[in-house]
Amino acid sequence: MKTTLSVIKADIGSLAGHHVVHPDTIAAANKILAEAKRNNIISDYYITYVGDDLQLIMTHNRGELDTRVHETAWNAFKEAAKIAKDLGLYAAGQDLLSDSFSGNLRGMGPGIAEIEFEERPAEPVVIFMADKTEPGAYNLPLYKIFADPFNTAGLVIDPTMHEGYKFEVLDVYEGESIMLNTPEESYDLLALIGTPSRYIVRRVYRKADNLQASVVSVERLNLIAGKYVGKDDPVMVVRAQHGLPALGEILEAFTVPYLVPGWMRGSHYGPLMPVSQKDARATRFDGPPRLISLGFNIKNGKLVGPTDLFDDPAFDEVRRTAVIIADYIRKHGPFMPHRLEPQEMEYTTLPLVIEKLKNRFKKETDMYKTKPSVYSHESSHE
Ligand code: 13P
Ligand code: 13P
Ligand code: MG
Ligand code: MG
Ligand code: MG
Repeated sequence: MKTTLSVIKADIGSLAGHHVVHPDTIAAANKILAEAKRNNIISDYYITYVGDDLQLIMTHNRGELDTRVHETAWNAFKEAAKIAKDLGLYAAGQDLLSDSFSGNLRGMGPGIAEIEFEERPAEPVVIFMADKTEPGAYNLPLYKIFADPFNTAGLVIDPTMHEGYKFEVLDVYEGESIMLNTPEESYDLLALIGTPSRYIVRRVYRKADNLQASVVSVERLNLIAGKYVGKDDPVMVVRAQHGLPALGEILEAFTVPYLVPGWMRGSHYGPLMPVSQKDARATRFDGPPRLISLGFNIKNGKLVGPTDLFDDPAFDEVRRTAVIIADYIRKHGPFMPHRLEPQEMEYTTLPLVIEKLKNRFKKETDMYKTKPSVYSHESSHE
């Protein structure tokens, strides 16, 4: 029998701003998931948080996009949001964009990463959860984990990994996906995923036998809601070992605090800082963007663990570098490239401010005859 791992998350409100989930809301979600486990809707679960995002990690045998599993998650978020409202938490119910549940959670606000697999004798998985950033933030580490031999020794050494991996990339502007093979199409892959706001790696498969190795929650809230309603704060599942990257090869991809969009008001680039669960609170300038990772083994649908993988002095220097980068980039204040590019600011309240100045511009010159098409959101690949 196949096992499905469903990681479903939502921001249902935070204590004192947008920085941390309140324990009473976790308790409310726990009641719903405990009941679902008693009723055999799910086999096992673990609830946690990163910053203001409540994370439901569930196992079951019902496959992806299952109505009962999604309804369980929806009810857990609803109950948690109710408590958040009662406590007067900030932005209570923030990511619950729709009022009524209809079949599954797609397009309703919560982020969803689900993967169904035949359990191997040992099934190690790593679950990454980020706050104050968006799903394309996983593009760079996924490339390093599954396609960069300088990161992942197994690509060179292990015969089952040597053929490489396939990357499924979603174009979130057009709603289209493409499958690209590495190593032979690495440069094509990078041509796309180097624009992470538009092209998001959604799934990765082992080429030798199509075994699915990874999945990312690709929901982009501003594209769903048509306006800025908070950042997506994505999750990712990566299976490890035995013909897949080793645990340490997966974590090695996070030894550089690379710049990601998000942070304050979802409008600034900042370093992605890998932290332990105890430091999973987005404080400074509502950040910097934070990432936790929990390791589990899955056995007969049960979650064994977790282990808090970034709770390790080996990552202290990464965190220190992240703080140095944060200090440096913050000095740019409201200037790009700290602030996001105009097409990404389109969904924030900045256009309202600029709109007010519209009539005060005076025509000066006809010398600038072209403007970049990237600003018009037109597809450049048609
Ligand atoms: P151990 O001898 O500690 O099991 O190490 C195995 C290994 O290959 C680590 O990458
Ligand atoms: P969240 O998506 O984490 O709620 O971030 C909202 C925000 O604007 C932080 O400054
Ligand atoms: Mg929030
Ligand atoms: Mg958040
Ligand atoms: Mg958010």
